[in-house]
Amino acid sequence: MKCRELMKLENTGHPGINSIFSKAHSADWDIDRDVDWSTPVEPEDSLVDHEWSAFGRTETFKALPEEVRSYVTRRGLGRILNILQVGESVAQDICAKLALTLRHEDHRNAAVAQAMDEARHHLAYVRFLEKMGEEPEDIDPFTEDMFDQLLATEDPKRMISFEQFFLESMAMNIFEAIHTHATNPLLKDILALITRDESRHMGFGVLYLAEWMRGASLDERVRFAEAWLGRILFTVTDRPGPLMARQIVRRIEEAGHADAAKLAPALLREQMELNAQDDALLFRGQKIPHLLKSAKNVGLLEPEITEALGVTDHPVVRAAAGLG
Ligand SMILES: [Fe+2]
Ligand SMILES: [Fe+2]
Repeated sequence: MKCRELMKLENTGHPGINSIFSKAHSADWDIDRDVDWSTPVEPEDSLVDHEWSAFGRTETFKALPEEVRSYVTRRGLGRILNILQVGESVAQDICAKLALTLRHEDHRNAAVAQAMDEARHHLAYVRFLEKMGEEPEDIDPFTEDMFDQLLATEDPKRMISFEQFFLESMAMNIFEAIHTHATNPLLKDILALITRDESRHMGFGVLYLAEWMRGASLDERVRFAEAWLGRILFTVTDRPGPLMARQIVRRIEEAGHADAAKLAPALLREQMELNAQDDALLFRGQKIPHLLKSAKNVGLLEPEITEALGVTDHPVVRAAAGLG
């Protein structure tokens, strides 16, 4: 990079992308002033209601003693918050790279503002985990591999597709679920503040890619959709299954419940019924995740694209087609 290249930075003039930078300031929050860190985080408290937990809505789980359910739910929350704090640092790295790679003023500004947000989110999750006062479970190999793939990305469009579009859209439902189910006021407050920032990050991904799609040929658009649509359709229908059941049974065991392994078949059977109900809500268009809305807003679900990819009759694609 030479100084001369920075002398007349071009702005795309995109009103939505430019407004992201102003909103990052007008909706800014201060981690010390706007968050009451003196709020207690009690040691035995589940901090979110049990319905939040994977398998938490099954009758078998509901029949467990309160202290077992609290332990399982709290461990699950610690695990997710630990993944989120790592994810924040990954996102901060990507934004720093984007700021050095993107060549338009408004794009660079959005990336720099996001990097600041992610630094604050990282601090917030780490402080909350410290207040929980226990060693969180290590992050799972699948998530670690996904973050490594993202960190190895050099192409800006690929970085934005992966981080701002895919991961931020996927994570929005995780943030909203923790916020909705949080019973600890400190957790609820930080999730409300963080989610507000994350919707801007997702917004940048959607607006940037929608703009790219407008200028791309049908062939380019189909190839781009092909790279993401399979993963999106898998993600929005991914529900708790046998792997997660093993994790829950292990935590029930850790909580000192005898014969935890014997609960596994009933937990799984009941969860499968709940999964089918959630699928039905999705297919009827009554519970559409952010990731699917983002895919639609970017233009990945336009008829000529879904036809070219042969997914027009996929129940999720049909449900998204009904979105306004
Ligand atoms: Fe974040
Ligand atoms: Fe973010």
